[in-house]
Amino acid sequence: MKSNRPLRILIVGRGGREHALAWRCRHEGHEVHVTPGNDGIALDASCHGVSERDHDGLVQLARRISADLVIVGPEQPLVEGVVDRLVHAGVRVFGPTAAAAELEGSKAAAKAFMARHGIPTARYQTVAHLADGLAAIRSFDAPPVVKASGLAGGKGVTVPESFEEAEQAVRACLGDGRRFGAAGSTVVLEQRLHGQEVSLFVLTDGTNAVTLLPAQDHKRVGDGDTGPNTGGMGAYCPAPVCSEAVYQRVMESVVEPTLAGLRGEGRPFVGVLFVGLMIDRAGAPSVIEYNCRFGDPEVQPLMYGLSDPIVPVMMAASADGLPGPSRLAGRPAATVVLASEGYPLESKTGRRITGVEACAALPDVQVFHAGTKRGPDGGWLTSGGRVLGVCARGASLPLAIRKAYEGCSRVEFAGRQMRSDIGVRALT
Ligand SMILES: Nc1ncnc2c1ncn2[C@@H]1O[C@H](COP(=O)(O)OP(=O)(O)O)[C@@H](O)[C@H]1O
Ligand SMILES: [Mg+2]
Repeated sequence: MKSNRPLRILIVGRGGREHALAWRCRHEGHEVHVTPGNDGIALDASCHGVSERDHDGLVQLARRISADLVIVGPEQPLVEGVVDRLVHAGVRVFGPTAAAAELEGSKAAAKAFMARHGIPTARYQTVAHLADGLAAIRSFDAPPVVKASGLAGGKGVTVPESFEEAEQAVRACLGDGRRFGAAGSTVVLEQRLHGQEVSLFVLTDGTNAVTLLPAQDHKRVGDGDTGPNTGGMGAYCPAPVCSEAVYQRVMESVVEPTLAGLRGEGRPFVGVLFVGLMIDRAGAPSVIEYNCRFGDPEVQPLMYGLSDPIVPVMMAASADGLPGPSRLAGRPAATVVLASEGYPLESKTGRRITGVEACAALPDVQVFHAGTKRGPDGGWLTSGGRVLGVCARGASLPLAIRKAYEGCSRVEFAGRQMRSDIGVRALT
């Protein structure tokens, strides 16, 4: 699958994920537009003023620039049906319809889907009333994981250490406070799993699976996986826990039945199916969750390390179909996230950043912008919780990780937060 003519690609979103996708598409020789993007993304693409939530505006923009392909980054517009709108308007899109994106939009629906199709996942119970929730907690042998069913921006899950903590989490969703609003009005309680997590990204036309290297991210803010959950403080690929044998089991017991199940239900999945897995000590996979889009920061090392072109795969998946299953090859790569002071609670922004260009000048190092903007003098300022992803690739993972940290040492801003142990699980 060679793409022999440069395409005009429109990417929807504004963070590190969209920068990595834009960089990749440009690197493959295409003309890249991003909306709304950010000042850092503007280094690699033309940015436009239409927001992710403005579906009419997105249709108009795709038509106005005659986009050959639209790639939707974030989950919210996908779950809200932006792909249905674009496809209806005759625009070619790499992304799932609202019906298929329900696998991410409703954790309760995803669990029921897995139960229907015999896909391995933790035992669970869905509750919608406080009293039922409190009673259900006691039916688990150990404190269950508590999940707001709907989209909660990565903040809706509690992995409690005690039954009391589990009760508090259920109260937060279903009690008077309704912390997550409608997204938490249904709650999934599930058995806690143990093992190592892996993210597998599957590009698909609904039938054929084209996989990227298995990746792993670091969600907690602090070294040694301590402190609150974040959008992700770093990621690397490949994840050694996903050996060839484990990969085969994942494809057979999870990916194939998931794609077949969705097809059988009349909602084939086109786009990236992101399967979040727990691999136990015996190498058996269980699904933690499905996402319906690329995950950040994992997408950064995946796009930067990739050695096969990805755009032809996305083009084929979104129209005529893929010729068959395959795997895209890539080099080991890692991203270390630089975050603002106070993140993930209350981020301090507007701080001057130095060294971005010096960092990017290192060979095999690339900087992806998540929350930056240009100041009045043209210099970089922080403008979000996660500020930059410093990504590096190499002949081996240890080399890539070392280079990423070398890059990080060149970038400074007041209050900078960075984990110093990205990738250690792969090195020991
Ligand atoms: N059943 C489970 N057992 C152990 N840990 C879990 C379980 N479910 C979720 N987690 C932990 O919580 C994190 C977030 O849960 P997830 O279902 O991925 O929700 P989201 O990404 O939407 O916040 C997971 O990455 C994992 O670390
Ligand atoms: Mg998750």
